[in-house]
Amino acid sequence: MNASPHLAVLGAGHTGPVLAKVLTEAGYPVSVAASGDPERIALILSFLAPGAKPRWAADAVAEAEAVFLALPLHRFAELDPAGLTGKIVVDTMNYWPPTDGVQVAFDDPVRGSSEIVQAALPGARVVKTLNHIGYHELDDSRRPSGSPGRRALGVAGDDAGAVATIAAILDRVGYDTLTLPSLAAGRALQPGGAVFGADLTLDRFSQEVSS
Ligand SMILES: NC(=O)c1ccc[n+]([C@@H]2O[C@H](COP(=O)([O-])OP(=O)(O)OC[C@H]3O[C@@H](n4cnc5c(N)ncnc54)[C@H](OP(=O)(O)O)[C@@H]3O)[C@@H](O)[C@H]2O)c1
Repeated sequence: MNASPHLAVLGAGHTGPVLAKVLTEAGYPVSVAASGDPERIALILSFLAPGAKPRWAADAVAEAEAVFLALPLHRFAELDPAGLTGKIVVDTMNYWPPTDGVQVAFDDPVRGSSEIVQAALPGARVVKTLNHIGYHELDDSRRPSGSPGRRALGVAGDDAGAVATIAAILDRVGYDTLTLPSLAAGRALQPGGAVFGADLTLDRFSQEVSS
């Protein structure tokens, strides 16, 4: 992957534009898609994520090396797994029955939601991160590398290369990262876990994940 791979964000609600903003400001070319005509999101992107390009979802995915899923989990089944083959897929989604309703596919007492996403996208390399930080904080909490108190994010996946790629992107965005060696280990990042929503430095984040 080149130094500034093309990135796609699927979702243009609360999370997608902020994600597009921080990725664009970190120097990456970013395309954003909602579920329909890109004209519908062009104005909001021009205000919230200047420089990010509105696209049809299929076009955004096709031109990207990594695709960030910032859509509600109950809409996940709409995605075309074939289009995501060969891509790094960054799963920022959470299973949240009060808003998603009970999703039979994700109502699993053992597997984490990103493991289920990976099973549905066998040709993709799924990385779980960014699900445990609020969208408003994602913009505000960025700090240059080495800053005291810099916030940490967990980055989990079964493919070490994909995890390293996304960790490097998040470092450039403004976060320390704790890499976790599998999507199963990434269950620690889910709602109810000690680091979900927590603003922690890398040391504290590591302690909480391993406790
Ligand atoms: N809110 C947070 O602070 C936060 C933080 C971390 C992670 N997350 C996760 O981020 C996800 C999105 O949350 P949100 O609060 O941003 O949701 P939201 O405001 O409801 O926005 C959902 C967006 O997803 C788009 N979408 C739906 N189906 C799509 C598809 N098939 N292809 C492309 N885009 C599609 C919608 O587009 P249309 O309008 O065209 O349907 C809409 O732009 C959730 O899974 C959530 O758990 C949220």
